[in-house]
Amino acid sequence: MVYIFGNWKCNPTNLKKAKEIFYTIEKNFKGNKKVNVAVFPPFVFLNSLNSEKVKKGAQDVFWEKQGAFTGEISPLMLKDAGCRYCLVGHSERRYIIGENNEIIEKKLRSCLENKIVPILCFGEREKVSFGKVKIEIKEQLKFLINYKSFKNVILAYEPVFSIGTGLVCDTSHINDVLNFLKNELNIKYKVLYGGSLNSKNCQEILEKCDINGFLVGGASLKTREFLKIIEIAEKYAKSKEK
Ligand code: 13P
Repeated sequence: MVYIFGNWKCNPTNLKKAKEIFYTIEKNFKGNKKVNVAVFPPFVFLNSLNSEKVKKGAQDVFWEKQGAFTGEISPLMLKDAGCRYCLVGHSERRYIIGENNEIIEKKLRSCLENKIVPILCFGEREKVSFGKVKIEIKEQLKFLINYKSFKNVILAYEPVFSIGTGLVCDTSHINDVLNFLKNELNIKYKVLYGGSLNSKNCQEILEKCDINGFLVGGASLKTREFLKIIEIAEKYAKSKEK
């Protein structure tokens, strides 16, 4: 199974466009057991986008169920809006909004308690030595290392220098990070890759890295491009079955 997840971030600016993107994907994706497709639209569009084939996730969540928390969206609301997944700890929330690990852990726990699968994002901010990368990643994933009993977490490795820059990460570096998780941190969750992913570079990453799929940003808003990525993932998954 290959996961193709689309993080729409703070786009598009109106429901009409959101529906256009969502239902174009929905119409053209046949739906099968080889590829798991989900999109992560802004909160306000969630209730208007519904499909059996294309799953939904939220980009963020609050850790309490309800109450006096102005501006927040609770896990119960996300469930009610049909969300199966939720991003947690995206680098844009860590470094633009200022979320720290304490907040991220609360959000992760809140998802798990409410049966939403968290997609926990991590990745180094800059191109530095691998020794430094390991320290940064270990810090970001500290609470997973301490609590090995978490189930149903998916990780998304998104090196910040690759996000929105066109500089997709080297496959050898992705493999180094995957091996670090498995062999040194003993973290064995599914891992997606994100960062300037498109239909031209996805095949190579699938072939060369032991990755479970992708968290696509910019390219997930371009329907033809996103559908092409899905098609490539389908072909790849089929070829693996033979
Ligand atoms: P881009 O694909 O636009 O680089 O964004 C990646 C990302 O941040 C997905 O969460």
